[in-house]
Amino acid sequence: MSQPLANDLFLRALLRQPTPRRPIWVMRQAGRYLPEYRATRKKAGNFLSLCMTPDYACEVTMQPIDRYKLDAAILFSDILTIPHAMNLGLEFETGEGPTFARPIRTPADIDKLGVPDPNRELKYVTDAVSLIRRTINGRIPLIGFAGSPWTVGTYMVEGGGSKTFGLVKRMMYESPRELHRLMDILTRATLLYLNAQIAAGAQAVMVFDTWGGILTPAQYEEFSLRYMARIIEGLTREADGRRVPNIVFTKGGGAWLSKIAGIGCDAAGVDWCTDLSTARKAVDGRVALQGNLDPAALFAPPDVLRAEALRVLESYGAGPGHVFNLGHGITPEVNPEQVSVLIEAVHGYSVRSA
Ligand code: CP3
Repeated sequence: MSQPLANDLFLRALLRQPTPRRPIWVMRQAGRYLPEYRATRKKAGNFLSLCMTPDYACEVTMQPIDRYKLDAAILFSDILTIPHAMNLGLEFETGEGPTFARPIRTPADIDKLGVPDPNRELKYVTDAVSLIRRTINGRIPLIGFAGSPWTVGTYMVEGGGSKTFGLVKRMMYESPRELHRLMDILTRATLLYLNAQIAAGAQAVMVFDTWGGILTPAQYEEFSLRYMARIIEGLTREADGRRVPNIVFTKGGGAWLSKIAGIGCDAAGVDWCTDLSTARKAVDGRVALQGNLDPAALFAPPDVLRAEALRVLESYGAGPGHVFNLGHGITPEVNPEQVSVLIEAVHGYSVRSA
């Protein structure tokens, strides 16, 4: 299905090609801050059936696209679909975050893990991708995604979210080889999964390394970056005669942006703790940058929000290679009107400056 895109600014910015204005999308743009999302979630019963029913996944992916002038859509799904497909017993209890009934704690637990076939156990995801592509009908590009092996692995070992990461860090110090074995399985699973999303129609892909920032620099290279590098290396680079750019986002990884740029990705995500001018120097023209407004700025009065957006745009400076985004996901308490204020500010600025 080769189809021209009405708005390809996002893809061009990721490839550091000139654009008439800066593209913007918002991490977690389909989510609980939108009343229409909460209504669909209620209809679906729970979060997992929202993810696993392509019609619902498509409906919620489209909600922010229909409401706002966003420059990209992101597949509605979760980074924990892979361990779910590995039969770890994933549940999302309301307000509790994810939990696994069968976490990974011993070498025998790792032995039991298979690499899910994306066209079987995860077919609901690729079905959602093709349905969303048909529904967007060439308006804007669709982003596919997965978690980094390290980040997904932390949930599998901890059995859910964690504040201290004591279990996975203990495994790292006590039996690093076992942890590497787990990372290797996850890397293979993630690569197949992302390439299946691309084959189904994803026009860019993003790797979320939400917990890379809790590691020491040496651990980050050994347990997170190394595996993301393998994924980047194996990703499908072109589909339908177009480059399929990729983005690597390590939250808390500001100090390692130069190393991230070195793995051959097209773009690096930046959280709000690093100034984009510093980030730009670190990557030295090797990759595009995506970010990095403090998500809490969405609670500011509109004038302050506009000023903060301007600060981000100006900290990047002139020239191509910037995709505007938050430095992390939008939070459920945000007033949806504020997202319009933000998008208008970014679109308006970019027209003047280009
Ligand atoms: O960006 C998007 O709009 C696409 C959808 C998306 C979701 N999760 C939907 C979701 C994406 C890209 C993710 C990624 C994800 N999932 C990450 C990495 C991104 C990040 O924010 O760093 C992580 C760590 C997860 C795991 C996960 N999923 C957690 C910890 C939670 C609970 C968090 C919470 O706020 O309650 C989820 C659930 C989840 N994933 C929700 C959504 C919209 C909330 C579910 C609900 O209650 O409706």
